[in-house]
Amino acid sequence: MDPSTVVVTGASSGIGRAIAERFSRDGRPLLLQGNRNVQALEPFADRARIVRCDLRDCAQLDGFCRDIEGALTVVHAASVVGTDLLSELSDEVVEEMLSVNVRAWVKLCRVAVRPMMRARKGCLVAISSVTARRASRGQSVYAGTKAFQEGFVRALAAEVASRGVRVNAVAPGPIDSGSLKGLLAQAPEEVKASLACGRLGLPEDVAEAVHWLCSDAAGFIHGQVLSVDGGFQRGVG
Ligand SMILES: NC(=O)c1ccc[n+]([C@@H]2O[C@H](COP(=O)([O-])OP(=O)(O)OC[C@H]3O[C@@H](n4cnc5c(N)ncnc54)[C@H](OP(=O)(O)O)[C@@H]3O)[C@@H](O)[C@H]2O)c1
Repeated sequence: MDPSTVVVTGASSGIGRAIAERFSRDGRPLLLQGNRNVQALEPFADRARIVRCDLRDCAQLDGFCRDIEGALTVVHAASVVGTDLLSELSDEVVEEMLSVNVRAWVKLCRVAVRPMMRARKGCLVAISSVTARRASRGQSVYAGTKAFQEGFVRALAAEVASRGVRVNAVAPGPIDSGSLKGLLAQAPEEVKASLACGRLGLPEDVAEAVHWLCSDAAGFIHGQVLSVDGGFQRGVG
């Protein structure tokens, strides 16, 4: 594994894909994961290793963890979002959110962090959500998984900062990509009213923040959650 490799989960669409595109402009090796839409990663085939992995599946996740060992930059953008009220949420969707948003993130960090500590360098980034800190109907479990990611980032950063490893999160607000589709369909007026700066965010807005956070320019930033939300969380507008 070339240590400069950038691993991006959920790279087959939306924000993850924009992150992959942003890093690919640096000419760095990429290891990109997708699942059902992995074929959407074909345009990257000449500059990336592409891995199909269902992160809900423990055996596949173990295999993917072997694939990423030695990479010093890991971004977890893959996610499942359930938009039903808790009383209507199926066990299956709850399980999917817990396995992709929580278990896979923990496992990826456990595997990736050891070589990072040995190298005294490394960067782990979770793509969280404003939902972790701002209440939203129909997102109780999803919000809980994102709050987990943010708490985990802070605590893990405290464990590994002295070894040169940085662990942070980026928390997007309403971004024009897959996760928002359900909410846009269910409550378009609510989403519109929440757009403090008058537009939805773009996946590229988030990708730029992630790219910066993983750069040496952000070398003093540990255990933070960077909101990329057009002012959504602060009630700007
Ligand atoms: N869009 C927003 O407004 C918004 C707001 C706040 C936070 N976020 C966060 O931003 C990140 C990206 O969101 P997005 O809107 O870009 O989502 P998206 O377009 O729906 O992409 C989700 C990604 O997750 C992957 N994924 C889903 N289930 C998977 C599974 N079981 N195994 C492996 N991969 C799986 C998908 O892969 P396949 O399609 O190949 O299966 C896809 O690449 C997520 O962490 C989300 O929580 C988004």
